[in-house]
Amino acid sequence: MGLLQGLAGPLAPFLDTAPTWLVVLSAAGSLLTLTILLNILQQILFRNPNEPPVVFHLLPWIGNTVTYGMDPYAFFFACREKYGDVFTFVLLGKKTTVCLGTKGNDFILNGKLKDVNAEEIYHPLTTPVFGKDVVYDCPNSKLMEQKKFVKFGLTSSALRSYVELIRAETNAFFSKDAPSKRFAANNGTIDLPPTLAELTIYTASRSLQGKEVRERFDAGFAKLYHDLDGGFVPINFKLGWLPLPHNRRRDAAQRKMTEVYTDIIKERRASGESTSNDREEDMIWNLMNCEYKNGTPVPDREIAHMMIALLMAGQHSSSATISWILLRLASRPDIQEDLLEEQRQILGTNADGSLKDFHYEDLSRLPLHAQVVKETLRIHTPIHSVMRVVKNPMPVEGTEFVIPTSHVLLASPGVTSRTAEHFPEPLEWEPHRWDETPSDKHSRLAPKHVKEGVVEEKEDYGYGLISKGAASPYLPFGAGRHRCIGEQFAYVQLQTILATVIRDLKFFNQEGVKGVVGTDYSSLFSRPLSPAVVRWERREKK
Ligand code: HEM
Ligand SMILES: *[C@@H]1O[C@H](CO)[C@@H](O)[C@H](O)[C@H]1NC(C)=O
Repeated sequence: MGLLQGLAGPLAPFLDTAPTWLVVLSAAGSLLTLTILLNILQQILFRNPNEPPVVFHLLPWIGNTVTYGMDPYAFFFACREKYGDVFTFVLLGKKTTVCLGTKGNDFILNGKLKDVNAEEIYHPLTTPVFGKDVVYDCPNSKLMEQKKFVKFGLTSSALRSYVELIRAETNAFFSKDAPSKRFAANNGTIDLPPTLAELTIYTASRSLQGKEVRERFDAGFAKLYHDLDGGFVPINFKLGWLPLPHNRRRDAAQRKMTEVYTDIIKERRASGESTSNDREEDMIWNLMNCEYKNGTPVPDREIAHMMIALLMAGQHSSSATISWILLRLASRPDIQEDLLEEQRQILGTNADGSLKDFHYEDLSRLPLHAQVVKETLRIHTPIHSVMRVVKNPMPVEGTEFVIPTSHVLLASPGVTSRTAEHFPEPLEWEPHRWDETPSDKHSRLAPKHVKEGVVEEKEDYGYGLISKGAASPYLPFGAGRHRCIGEQFAYVQLQTILATVIRDLKFFNQEGVKGVVGTDYSSLFSRPLSPAVVRWERREKK
């Protein structure tokens, strides 16, 4: 019926007398109807048995973009129900093949360099933000070297100094007499995401980025960072090159920020401090002393661009995670008390009853603190989709499917970590499910792969041995050659903030609020929907 109407519409004799715009409108409408119908017919009638099933969609090009974009997990779980672990959906005109499950994660994240490519898909978004010749604007072998520089620069002695610096920043931030006056009273309410984004940038800049960068955040750098960040939005995968106002601001900020970093490097070099034993350890110093395999030192501009890349990669993921941690804790006061009790037991108390200070070595002795981070990343991993371009037709083991080079591959390790097969009652946030010997109350929640003692395979892609992650359903930091090198730093930062803040403040849900807010998937890194307001009270000082 619709099809006949669509075809016959423009030919109908009454149109002879209708105004021209009506004819044009009617013809356009018919064309649209026709395209949609052909698109549907094609989906119903033609099904290539050698390609994964295509998720049903009404509109060509738009495809399933909206459903996916609103809630990727809801979309993936619904598709999995209907089509299984491997299926293709249309994302802004691109056939995107999703491979779920531990096998899917392995297939994509451990794909061979000749078969899967990350830079082709990430480059249009990241290069204008980070700058040239780093990360996705260089051959993969160079990225592997850059990752090695950063990973090897995160030495225990550097991390040890970071804990002290992050603790000091955190204490100052939440103190009664902080310049912001946010925590001047004994209790109040606070919108966590924007507040913790600010804290995260102070802690990360003071430690990893170095003291000059931290100082600049008190003066003008925040605006630059904000403008640069405006270019770090999903639409820029496609439209990063458009000379729109936010992209122009991004480009100006990128240039200015590169200048700030190269100035810092020059000043440091001129100061002669590089040979001093008591200079601070940070990533700029480390990169100034790194050399590529061919013997050339890392050029200043590349150091600047790598520092920007680290700032962007670390900021969003860590600030979203600490927001989720405090939001979750607000609805679980019992865990806040468990954490304090752990600190009391392990660190001990001073003569006046106050808790003893903690240092880098102590973090590994506070398992519940680590479990809070781990459990939060299980449900709230900031990266819901990891994408690769297919460079050679890729047969999917155990199926008839061969993924053609016209497709993009998408892995979502967050799906396996939200699956009941691996994590009983997956959406229940319970740090105690990771207890080494879970109590009766929590043993039913214990992760199955941990119970079964699954051993992880390791491999070296040029930046040290890392877990291949082939068997693990828990991969918030990815796996394979593109795996995160910031995990250790992120844990140090998150655990230090957590252990520090819960000594001073208690968090609660606001009156009448149950559970936690929903997730904002519209930005590049998923984060709590804002405002996400909780109530806080200052603990009695001992
Ligand atoms: C909670 C915090 C973090 C999470 C959940 C996280 C997650 C991830 C994931 C999933 C990947 C793999 C992306 C892919 O395969 O396409 C990745 C890569 C990476 N991350 Fe992180 N990250 C975090 C913090 C950080 C921090 C703090 C830094 C920097 C200090 C950082 C730097 C990087 C770098 C350089 C890569 C490599 C990209 C590549 O090789 O293509 N990350 N991260
Ligand atoms: C919050 O602080 C105010 C002012 O110091 C005080 O009167 C009030 O009792 C406090 N409320 C709670 C719940 O502690």
